[in-house]
Amino acid sequence: MRILVTGATGFLGRTLLSLEGEVEWMGCGRRPAAEGIPYRPVDLADHKAVAALVAELAPDWVINAAAMTDVDGCEKDVLAARQANVDIPENLAVACDATGAGLVHISTDYVFDGKCGPYGEGDAANPLSCYGQLKLESEGILKKMERVLVVRTLWLYGYVPQAGSNFLTWALRSLSSGQPLRVFADQWGNPTYICDLARALVALCGQEARGLLHIGGATFMTRWEMARELACFFGIDDALIEPVLTRAAGLPAARPLRSGLRTDALEAALGRRPMSFAEGLQCLAAAPHFRRDFPQFAR
Ligand SMILES: NC(=O)c1ccc[n+]([C@@H]2O[C@H](COP(=O)([O-])OP(=O)(O)OC[C@H]3O[C@@H](n4cnc5c(N)ncnc54)[C@H](OP(=O)(O)O)[C@@H]3O)[C@@H](O)[C@H]2O)c1
Repeated sequence: MRILVTGATGFLGRTLLSLEGEVEWMGCGRRPAAEGIPYRPVDLADHKAVAALVAELAPDWVINAAAMTDVDGCEKDVLAARQANVDIPENLAVACDATGAGLVHISTDYVFDGKCGPYGEGDAANPLSCYGQLKLESEGILKKMERVLVVRTLWLYGYVPQAGSNFLTWALRSLSSGQPLRVFADQWGNPTYICDLARALVALCGQEARGLLHIGGATFMTRWEMARELACFFGIDDALIEPVLTRAAGLPAARPLRSGLRTDALEAALGRRPMSFAEGLQCLAAAPHFRRDFPQFAR
């Protein structure tokens, strides 16, 4: 199976491209070059360039991991957010339909308002932010495609070299340097181990899965509980973790508070439960690149 990953330099993109197994991976993105991964530069906003690349590489699947993920940044620069989160998936849909390639598009729990999560695939969306609205719009556009799988996920954690920081790496770096960590105690979700997500995406491509699917971890918790559990797991003093309320932070974009994604459909499709937060931490602590770059936390 040949899979082309867009947003190859991001957290999910790099994780996918680091997976071992049967897949022939190719990555693409907006940077002129990317170290350590098979990579082709392309302007994903240029529909002709995207169509030409997909036709040339002839992948079985394209996994779209390119997105503007800075939720507050989307609120401030709606044009850039629309280009990344709506125009790019639309260009990919046209390019994939032309060659018969399947498209996996990654969406988010931010399509929900967070009043009564965790949410199933059939629950009504009601985004609170520009990021959530644009992601929902992209989902609607892709519904017209022949071979498409939209995956909503949330709270990705893990470590892959050269990707930006995520909640876990930010928390570990802050706590280990003795800095206090202010963490939201009123945001609920189910943290998703990035390698578990990446492996599930590959399995779903292999199954020719289509439609809409939620992928999240097996543990429902608050951000504050997440920080405390990871401090406990890595033997760090949790006295530095301070619970705060979202409204006190005055962020530009509203967050879904009582969120979370139900994974019954995923479990039926894969025949397995997603990893719990404890299982994800165990896998992470044993991973060679994590042990090399965070030796103080190696297990
Ligand atoms: N991280 C989470 O917790 C989370 C939660 C729910 C859903 N998701 C979704 O999961 C997917 C992957 O997220 P991630 O955490 O891997 O994101 P990420 O680390 O921020 O990576 C995003 C990728 O998109 C590229 N990109 C951004 N704007 C672009 C543009 N205008 N044109 C071309 N490429 C552009 C980035 O390129 P550069 O490297 O050049 O910046 C990067 O390669 C996204 O669809 C996101 O919405 C993530």
